[in-house]
Amino acid sequence: MQFNKKDILDMESLSFDEIQFILDTADKMKEISQRPIKKVPTLRGKTIIHFFYEASTRTKTSFDIAAKRLSADCFSLSATTSSVVKGETLIDTAKNLDAMNSDVIIIRHSASGAPHLIAKNVKASIINAGDGMHEHPTQALLDLMTVREKKGKIETLKLAIIGDISHSRVARSNIIGFKKLGAEVKVSGPPAMIPKGIESLGATYTFDMSEAISDADIIMMLRIQKERLSDFSYPSDREYSRLYGLSMDKLKYTKKDVLIMHPGPVNRGLEISPEIADSDSSVILDQVENGVAVRMALLYLVAGGVRNVDSN
Ligand code: CP
Repeated sequence: MQFNKKDILDMESLSFDEIQFILDTADKMKEISQRPIKKVPTLRGKTIIHFFYEASTRTKTSFDIAAKRLSADCFSLSATTSSVVKGETLIDTAKNLDAMNSDVIIIRHSASGAPHLIAKNVKASIINAGDGMHEHPTQALLDLMTVREKKGKIETLKLAIIGDISHSRVARSNIIGFKKLGAEVKVSGPPAMIPKGIESLGATYTFDMSEAISDADIIMMLRIQKERLSDFSYPSDREYSRLYGLSMDKLKYTKKDVLIMHPGPVNRGLEISPEIADSDSSVILDQVENGVAVRMALLYLVAGGVRNVDSN
């Protein structure tokens, strides 16, 4: 298959075939990370800029590692140390980075749609590392890779996503991605944390967490996005944990081979108990490992070959 996208902005705009191709490429990239010398010359001479307006451990570090494993030159910029603090606009900042002939700009921003706006204004490829409450496509791709690796398929599997769905770009990207690949998706959480029209994404809602997880093949726990809560969305941490935290007693009623996922950062004891986060059913660190492979695949696919810049 010819991968011809300039940018990776969201799961919405990736086709079934494109997602499968990215996952197949990531499988091959993973092997490079398992070699004693974890470096290939594929992106030698390419320039990659990470521009993160929000905090990150996993996404930023794994993009950086991915770029270096492919021998690209990478540079990091944060909002607090860039001229954004002097009043420079997002588009002007992006155009300046573009003027330095960068090949890929990876951006995380608190405003939904920020990467899409930049993509229209620069020649470089844009990869969305999370935009507000909209999407986090690379997280969904690494989650799909992890499930496909552990279960051998995505089609017909049952995914339960639990927690703060409204404020979660991870939930949105995963609902879209898992539905595109043929999974069934249920969500559960406090009603105030469920977006109106969740059914239009193809997910079904149940108030009762036990019902959502009882027949699930995969349980994906989410962090409460306290930084995005503008109102009082749940009674207390204690109440939330009782109703929507994944504890050993709730796990008794799930399938024995259920996969437990969490995109991180994990708040142990709130949305997931420490015993479950560290259990054999947990694939949380497999997700992190696969994050490097998926990001290597994406950097290779947007910057590694000759592409038509008018496509996308
Ligand atoms: N999953 C995720 O996006 O983690 P970071 O915020 O640490 O990048």
